[in-house]
Amino acid sequence: MSANMLFFFIFGFIFGVATADYCPPYYTAVPDQGICVVVDIPTVNDGSFDSASHQCAMNGAFLPNISNVFVNNVFASFANKLGQTSDFFIGVVKNDAGVWTYSDGSTLIYSRWAVGEPNNQYSCAIMNNSTYWYARDCHQSTSYACMTYLQSNPPNCPSNWVPFGDSCYYLKPIQLNDDGNWILYNFTDAQENCVEMGSQLASIHSKAESDFVYDLVYAQFVNETDPGYNRPCDWGWTWIGLAHSPSPNTTYWLDGTSLDYCDFGTGDCVIAEMYNCGFEIHNDATCYPEKPKTWGWWLAGFHYSRYLCKKSMKLI
Ligand SMILES: *[C@@H]1O[C@H](CO)[C@@H](O)[C@H](O)[C@H]1NC(C)=O
Ligand SMILES: *[C@@H]1O[C@H](CO)[C@@H](O)[C@H](O)[C@H]1NC(C)=O
Ligand SMILES: *[C@@H]1O[C@H](CO)[C@@H](O)[C@H](O)[C@H]1NC(C)=O
Ligand SMILES: *[C@@H]1O[C@H](CO)[C@@H](O)[C@H](O)[C@H]1NC(C)=O
Ligand SMILES: *[C@@H]1O[C@H](CO)[C@@H](O)[C@H](O)[C@H]1NC(C)=O
Ligand SMILES: *[C@@H]1O[C@H](CO)[C@@H](O)[C@H](O)[C@H]1NC(C)=O
Repeated sequence: MSANMLFFFIFGFIFGVATADYCPPYYTAVPDQGICVVVDIPTVNDGSFDSASHQCAMNGAFLPNISNVFVNNVFASFANKLGQTSDFFIGVVKNDAGVWTYSDGSTLIYSRWAVGEPNNQYSCAIMNNSTYWYARDCHQSTSYACMTYLQSNPPNCPSNWVPFGDSCYYLKPIQLNDDGNWILYNFTDAQENCVEMGSQLASIHSKAESDFVYDLVYAQFVNETDPGYNRPCDWGWTWIGLAHSPSPNTTYWLDGTSLDYCDFGTGDCVIAEMYNCGFEIHNDATCYPEKPKTWGWWLAGFHYSRYLCKKSMKLI
């Protein structure tokens, strides 16, 4: 331990600055309860109770098992930011025996049902800014709340992953097979490899994020010819998580987030192709001078040597 660190350690210990508490990005700390909370609008999947549960889990959080009136009021106070429909799922469900429990099956130690609730026709629970709980259809698309405990370490990315905003990114580098050729991945292989690492092929939602991704991809600029295929440039391209399918005619991010930004070089997010395809980032302008810094598409069965995975930054 260096003198500086020793000083910091002692100073921090005495004045308590070394015991800072952290929440995941976008969560609000409720320090006297030791928790972090967020109330969010569903932007992915079907907005059901299950997808809400999954969204919370991506940040190491869970649907709130509200255990006292103070925490209940904290959540209610967040409801207004949802706008007119301030309903949101909480972590309270009806089990097969018809008993309402927390979503992990444990017994409710606090509840705040509205008069006439819970309506046993339904199996999930919402609350709104009234502070009261109501039974609700688990499949109805609804906003949701998440909760987790305050952590003593700041949010971080695993090693080899690069942080940007509230996410971590992993660029699969070019690797050689035993026979000296590049290892190549089609679109579905690339996505499966990301999923194995608890992530998905990257979605991109802003100019800033897009620029970050270009920098990452170009930093490992590849202007080589794969010995096995003898085609310059192309094989070094990088899959991202945008997919297009012809029937129904849709273009969508594999991670279910909304298509609110794109870089096709045409100024809009419309493609009119008739194929199952995935999108990729080219190498820099040296390899694709007519289309620097745009996304390209190619058949989902095509092979590239690189892919970009993305996952939520977690507390570690
Ligand atoms: C709430 O859920 C968390 C995570 O499952 C658990 O650690 C905690 O004990 C639960 N608290 C209550 C009051 O059920
Ligand atoms: C709750 O939300 C409704 C509808 O948006 C709003 O009219 C009302 O003022 C809110 N109540 C509180 C206590 O914030
Ligand atoms: C809260 O939700 C219930 C059930 O949907 C509704 O009857 C009530 O008006 C809502 N309260 C507010 C303030 O939005
Ligand atoms: C990339 O390769 C092409 C074709 O081999 C060559 O013309 C070009 O000069 C190379 N660019 C760089 C930056 O090395
Ligand atoms: C697919 O939808 C886009 C609009 O989202 C449209 O511009 C395009 O023509 C459609 N393609 C086909 C083959 O219908
Ligand atoms: C990608 O390759 C795998 C085998 O590695 C294959 O099972 C899959 O069907 C291929 N995907 C496409 C879209 O061709």
